Amino acid sequence: MGLALGVSGLGSVQAEEVEQDVAADNLHYRNLVVDILRTHVEAMRWILDHENLKYDDNMVRHAEAFVATFGMVGPMGWHAAEAFKYLNQAGNAEGMTEAQFNLLADQSHAAMKVMTRAAHRYMRDRDAASMHQAIDEVLTSCNACHAKMPAGTVPDWTGLMEH
Ligand code: HEC
Repeated sequence: MGLALGVSGLGSVQAEEVEQDVAADNLHYRNLVVDILRTHVEAMRWILDHENLKYDDNMVRHAEAFVATFGMVGPMGWHAAEAFKYLNQAGNAEGMTEAQFNLLADQSHAAMKVMTRAAHRYMRDRDAASMHQAIDEVLTSCNACHAKMPAGTVPDWTGLMEH
């Protein structure tokens, strides 16, 4: 946007087109990050569901990479603040408070820590069911907030919960 405004002599229509391109570029990048998150989840589930894979010692790496990738789309506090903003724009029929969103954010943050710990434990005990459950809980915690958002504003993880 700074670029669009900085270029002198651009008509407003052209400036708008430049801005729309930036929005599309941002969305494309966001979708790439979402794909990376999905892929880590799918890779963990694949390892859990298939014994004796060549790379079956990658559970901790995938769990940590999921958390690191999540960090690319803003800290959890940003998700909570944006959630409150979006819901208010949409009328906030349920009367959710900012504190309730902060709690959902804290729970999601905690679930990611539990998942990473579960991945370490999996390396020792190969308890696939517990690891699946830890992954489920992360996605449930993301969905607990995302599901309250107006359609189209946040990625939907529902399809990743089934296994
Ligand atoms: C407290 C509410 C809340 C929680 C919990 C939450 N999110 Fe979000 N998330 C949001 C909101 C709101 C947005 C949209 C932000 C925007 O576009 O302004 C968002 C956007 C995103 C995006 C897209 C980023 C972008 O730039 O558009 C991704 C990816 C994402 N969330 C992943 C996750 C994951 C993974 C989790 C769980 C580990 C999670 N979120 C937990 C509220 C939440």
